[in-house]
Amino acid sequence: MAMAQPHRGMDPATTNPTTNPRVRLEPLGRDNLAQARRLNALLFPVRYSECVYRKMVVAGKFSQLAYFGNVCVGTVGCTTQPLVQGTMGPLQLYIMTLGVLAPYRRLGIGSALLQHILQQVAITNHEATDPVDTISQIALHVQIDNEEALQFYQRHGFEAAGIEQNYYQRMSPSDAFILVKTVAPVQQ
Ligand SMILES: CC(C)(COP(=O)(O)OP(=O)(O)OC[C@H]1O[C@@H](n2cnc3c(N)ncnc32)[C@H](O)[C@@H]1OP(=O)(O)O)[C@@H](O)C(=O)NCCC(=O)NCCS
Repeated sequence: MAMAQPHRGMDPATTNPTTNPRVRLEPLGRDNLAQARRLNALLFPVRYSECVYRKMVVAGKFSQLAYFGNVCVGTVGCTTQPLVQGTMGPLQLYIMTLGVLAPYRRLGIGSALLQHILQQVAITNHEATDPVDTISQIALHVQIDNEEALQFYQRHGFEAAGIEQNYYQRMSPSDAFILVKTVAPVQQ
C-alpha cells in the first residue's frame, strides 16, 4: 500500500471524532501536505494545482488528514469563500476534496472527516463577532454517477441544489451535482 508511511507520533492537535480508537485526524499544514498530494493522486483523476493546496492549508482547521493506526488513509480539503460572489460574507465552506482509500472505507473515517468539519463550522459561527465571518452553507460537487458519495452526503444531510453541466473537463460523465447543507445561524 503506497500510503503506509509511519507517522511521527501523536500530536496534541490530533482528534478522533469516531468510536474507533485506531482513527485520528490531524490538521493539514505545510509539513504534511505531501500526504494529501499523494492521497489525492490515488483517489481522484484530477491533478490539483499548488494554488488549490495553498487554499486548503489556509483553511487548515477544516482541512484534515485521517490516519488509521500509522497509515494515512483519508483527507479532506476545504476553502472558505463568500456565499454570494462580490460580497464580504456570510461564508460558504466549499469541500474541494474528501476521500478515503478503498481498503479503509465503511469504517466511519469519511464520516469522521465530515463530522470534524461540522464541529469546526459550529465553533467558527459561535466565535464570530460579525455576521460576515459566519459560515451559512457547506457545498461541494459530486460526479452525477458517484452513487457511493451521493448516498454518503445525503445521509449527512446534504441536498442536491442543481446540476452543473460539463463541470469535469476530462471525466465522463462530465456533469456534477452541486450538494449543499445549510448551516443554522447562531442565535446571538
Ligand atoms: C465517499 C467516501 C469519502 C466515504 O468514505 P467512508 O470512509 O467509506 O465513509 P463512512 O465509512 O463514514 O460511511 C460510508 C458508509 O459505510 C457505512 N459504515 C460506516 N461504518 C460502518 C461499519 N463499521 N460497518 C459497516 N458499514 C459502515 C456507513 O453507514 C456509510 O453508508 P452509506 O454511505 O450508504 O450511508 C468514500 O467512499 C470515498 O473516498 N470515495 C471516493 C472519493 C469520492 O468520491 N469523494 C466524494 C467527492 S469529494
